[in-house]
Amino acid sequence: MGALVRVVVIFTYVFSLLRISTGVDTITVNQLITDAETITSAGGSFELGFFSPANSKHRYLGIWYKKVSNRAVVWVANRENPLNDSSGVLKVTSQGILVVLDGANKTLWSSTSSRPAQDPNAQLLDSGNLVMKNGNDGNPENFLWQSFDYPCNTLLPGMKLGWNRVTGLDRYLSSWKSADDPSIGTFTYGIDPSGSPQIFVRNGSAVTFRSGPWNGIRFSGYPHFTPNPVYTYDFVLNEKEIYFIYYLVNSSLLSRLVLTPEGYAQRFTWIDEKGEWVQYSSVQKDDCDNYAICGANGICKIDQSPKCECMKGFRPKFQSNWDMADWSNGCVRSTPLDCQKGDGFVKLSGVKLPDTRTSWFNESLNLKECASLCLRNCSCTAYVNSNISGGGSGCLLWFDDLIDIREFAENGQEFYVRMSASESDAFSSTNSSSKKKQKHVIVISISITGIVLLILVLTWYMLKKMKQQLKRKGYMEHNSDGGETCEGQERLELPLFELATLLNATNNFSSDNKLGEGGFGPVYKGILEDGEEIAVKRLSKTSRQGLKEFKNEVESIAKLQHRNLVKLLGCCICGREKMLIYEYLPNKSLDLFIFDQIRGIVLDWPKRFLIINGIARGLLYLHQDSRLRIIHRDLKAENVLLDNDMNPKISDFGIARSFGGNETGASTTRVAGTLGYMSPEYASEGLYSTKSDVYSFGVLVLEIVSGKRNRGFSHPNHDLNLLGHAWTLYIEGGSSKFIDASIANTYNLSEVLRSINVGLLCVQRFPDDRPSMHSVVLMLSSEGALPQPKEPCFFTDRSMMEVNSSSGSHATITQLEAR
Ligand SMILES: *[C@@H]1O[C@H](CO)[C@@H](O)[C@H](O)[C@H]1NC(C)=O
Ligand SMILES: *[C@@H]1O[C@H](CO)[C@@H](O)[C@H](O)[C@H]1NC(C)=O
Ligand SMILES: *[C@@H]1O[C@H](CO)[C@@H](O)[C@H](O)[C@H]1NC(C)=O
Ligand SMILES: *[C@@H]1O[C@H](CO)[C@@H](O)[C@H](O)[C@H]1NC(C)=O
Ligand SMILES: *[C@@H]1O[C@H](CO)[C@@H](O)[C@H](O)[C@H]1NC(C)=O
Ligand SMILES: *[C@@H]1O[C@H](CO)[C@@H](O)[C@H](O)[C@H]1NC(C)=O
Ligand SMILES: *[C@@H]1O[C@H](CO)[C@@H](O)[C@H](O)[C@H]1NC(C)=O
Ligand SMILES: *[C@@H]1O[C@H](CO)[C@@H](O)[C@H](O)[C@H]1NC(C)=O
Repeated sequence: MGALVRVVVIFTYVFSLLRISTGVDTITVNQLITDAETITSAGGSFELGFFSPANSKHRYLGIWYKKVSNRAVVWVANRENPLNDSSGVLKVTSQGILVVLDGANKTLWSSTSSRPAQDPNAQLLDSGNLVMKNGNDGNPENFLWQSFDYPCNTLLPGMKLGWNRVTGLDRYLSSWKSADDPSIGTFTYGIDPSGSPQIFVRNGSAVTFRSGPWNGIRFSGYPHFTPNPVYTYDFVLNEKEIYFIYYLVNSSLLSRLVLTPEGYAQRFTWIDEKGEWVQYSSVQKDDCDNYAICGANGICKIDQSPKCECMKGFRPKFQSNWDMADWSNGCVRSTPLDCQKGDGFVKLSGVKLPDTRTSWFNESLNLKECASLCLRNCSCTAYVNSNISGGGSGCLLWFDDLIDIREFAENGQEFYVRMSASESDAFSSTNSSSKKKQKHVIVISISITGIVLLILVLTWYMLKKMKQQLKRKGYMEHNSDGGETCEGQERLELPLFELATLLNATNNFSSDNKLGEGGFGPVYKGILEDGEEIAVKRLSKTSRQGLKEFKNEVESIAKLQHRNLVKLLGCCICGREKMLIYEYLPNKSLDLFIFDQIRGIVLDWPKRFLIINGIARGLLYLHQDSRLRIIHRDLKAENVLLDNDMNPKISDFGIARSFGGNETGASTTRVAGTLGYMSPEYASEGLYSTKSDVYSFGVLVLEIVSGKRNRGFSHPNHDLNLLGHAWTLYIEGGSSKFIDASIANTYNLSEVLRSINVGLLCVQRFPDDRPSMHSVVLMLSSEGALPQPKEPCFFTDRSMMEVNSSSGSHATITQLEAR
C-alpha cells in the first residue's frame, strides 16, 4: 500500500516535470491548451491541465493544488467523457465558452453561457476558481461562467454550497465513482431548501445523512462546528440565496471538504511536516448519524446499548421488532393527543433537531408566541427557537412524526415536544406547593360539576349508541355470516381485507398516513401486522359510482397482471366504505423526480429511458395484450409510480374504461382527465380511444426528456407550450436544447432524439396519424429511421386549456360519468 502511494507520488512528480507551464493564468480566444501544457493561478496555488487519476489511463481536464507534492484534484471538466489519449485540447470560443475537444475536434465537454461575450477570456484564480470574464472585468457578478458554480466532489474555501433562488442554480457536491474514476458516483452533498433548509448526503435519492437546520450558530447536527484554528463558516438564507460557505483562518493553510466515493463528507488538511493530506474532521461521526436509524419519534444515543430508544411519552410501534433491534418502524405515542382537551409540552435537551423538511418557521416570533402557535394548531407536534444565538429567537414548528433525532454530549439543542395533558404533567413534575393547592381547588369544583355533567353525557351517549347499533344492523341484514365480514365480497376473485385490519394498518386513516389524493379519494399508507406495506385507496362516499360498477371495475383491474402496472392486492367493501388495496411503492410518483431539480439527478438518462420503455409496455398491455381492451384516460406523471429500482408502474384506474372485442373507442359528455395530457379530440369533443392514451404518452415522454411540465410551461423567447417548443427545436435541428439539464451528463444522444421523435409522433393533431402503442414500443427499441411527425396542434391546445380552467375545473377532473 505504502509502496503504491510512493509510486504514484513519484509518477505524478516526474509527470509534472514533463509539463510545459505556460506561466500565465489566462486563456484567450482560440488559444489552445494542449495535453502537455498547463496554466497556473497568479499566486501559484492552483494549476489547470490534463491529468490521469491514479490507476487510470484516461485523460481529464482538471484543476489541482500546485504547491504540494500530492496534488489532489479539486475539479474535473469532462468527468463523464474522458479522453483515451493525449490528443485533448482546451480552448475558449468567441462566444465565451470553454470547450474540451479530442483529436477529431469532437466536443467532450463545454461550459455554458447565458450572457453575450465581448473579448472573453478564461482565468484561473488563486482560489481555484476557473472563471470566464469579459475583458478585464473582474467583478464576480459579471462572470459569464465559473467553475465554482459547477462543483465536483470538492468544496473549496469561498465556494458556495447551495441555491441561487433567482436563477434556480443548485451547487452541490457529487462523489467520484472511485478514486480512479471521476465520473459521477451515487452520492451527493447539497442543501435541500424545503422547510427550514438542511444539508443532506444522499445515496441516489435516499438520504444517508442530514445536517439539521441552521440555528444561527451552526447546523443543529454539527456540534463540532465550533470556532477552530482552520476555518470559519457562514450560512446565508434570504430571498435570493441559500448557501453554506467557509473561509480559511490563515490562507497559507490548505484545507478542503471532499465527498468521498463511499459517501462521507470529510475535511482534509495539508500537513507540511508529514507531507500529506490528513483527515481533519468528518461530517458523519458515528452510527447515530445514519439518517433515521431509530425510526419516527425514536432517539439515538451513541454511548448506550441498544442505541435507540423512544422519546419520552412514546412507545415502540412494534415491540417485538424493536426488541430485535429493528427500529425502522419507530415509535408511537403512549397516549394519543387530544387537541380539544388541551395538550402540553415536554422539553428534550441536548439533541439534534428532527428533520425540518416539512417544518415551518418565522424569524420574528419569540418562544412564548411559538408555543401558543403550536398549541393552536392541532397538527403541530413540536416547537423550538429557530435561532439560538443571542439568547434565542424565532419560531420553528413541526407537524409530522419527529424523525432522525440523536443525543449529543455537547452543543445539543433543547426542543419542546407536544404531549397529551396527562403525559406532560407526569413529565414536567410540577413541584410548587402553590400549584398543588390550586390543583386541589380545581379538582373539587370539577368533581361537583362533573357528576352532574356525567349523568347528562351518559344518557346522551347511550341513546347515540343504540341508534348506531340499529344502523349497523341495517347494513348487515343480508350478510349470512354476520360479525366482521362485509357484504358482497365473496363474489370477487380477490383477497378480501377486513375493515378492522385496514383501520389498524393505517392508524385509523390518520392524516399522518395520507399519501395523497387520487382520482377517487384519498390514498393512505398502511402497514399490515406482518410488516407488509400497502397503499389503501379509500373511495370517497360521495363517489357516484355504484357498488355494481365498482365491482366490475375491480374485477377487470384484478385480472390485469403486468410488471409495469401497479398490483392490486385486494379490496374491502363494508357498508358505504369501498376501498382498494395496492402494493406500496416507496419512491412514490414520477413527477416528484422529473420536475424537481434535485431529485431529477437521481433519474439519469438510462433510468429515464427504461421508464419511457416501461410505460410504453404497460400501456401496450392495456390496449392490446390484456383480455380486455382498456383505455386508461388519465396517464400522467403523477400516475406513474416507481418501485425500489425505479421501475415504472402505471396506477390509478379510477376513470379507465374497458371494451370488449373490436371496440376501440367511445365518446362521453363528461370529460374526465388531466389538463395538459388530454388529446384535442377528447378535450373538445369527448372522443376517446387508445389514441388518446397515445397522446398522453407522447406528452409524458416530452416531459421526461425535458424535465418540464407541459401544463404551465413558459419560455422567455416565445409563447409556445412544451409541445410547440419541442416541435420548433425539432424542426430547427436543435432538439439537444430540449434536454433536461439534470441529465446533461448522462444522456445518449441517439436515444434522446429517438424519444423526442416518438413523443412528437404521439402528440400529432389527428388520432389516425398517431402510432399505436405497438409501433411505439417497436420504434423505441429499434435503430431504424423514424417517420417525420406533423406539427402538433399546440396553439388550439393552449386556448382550450384556458376554456377548461376557467370553467372551474381542477387540474384533475375526477368526476365519473354515470354509465
Ligand atoms: C475512448 O474509448 C472508448 C472505448 O473504446 C470509446 O467508447 C470512447 O468513445 C473513446 N473516447 C474518445 C474521446 O475517443
Ligand atoms: C481541428 O480544428 C483545427 C482548427 O479549427 C484544424 O486546424 C484541425 O485541422 C482540425 N482537426 C481535425 C482532425 O479535423
Ligand atoms: C447506495 O445505494 C445503492 C443502491 O441503492 C446500494 O447498492 C449501495 O449499497 C448504497 N451504498 C451505501 C454506501 O450505502
Ligand atoms: C499563517 O501560517 C503560517 C505558516 O503556518 C505562519 O507562518 C503565519 O504566521 C500564519 N499567519 C497568521 C496570520 O497566523
Ligand atoms: C412572521 O410573524 C410576524 C409577526 O407575527 C408577521 O408579521 C410576519 O408576516 C410573519 N412572517 C412570515 C413569513 O410568516
Ligand atoms: C396547521 O399548520 C399547517 C402547516 O402550516 C397548516 O397547513 C394548517 O392549515 C394549520 N392548521 C390550522 C388549524 O391552523
Ligand atoms: C439570530 O439572532 C442573532 C442575535 O439576535 C441575530 O444577530 C441574527 O441575525 C439572527 N439570525 C437570523 C438568521 O435571524
Ligand atoms: C420539590 O420541592 C421540595 C421543596 O419545595 C424539594 O425539597 C424537593 O427536592 C423538590 N423535588 C424535586 C423533584 O425537585
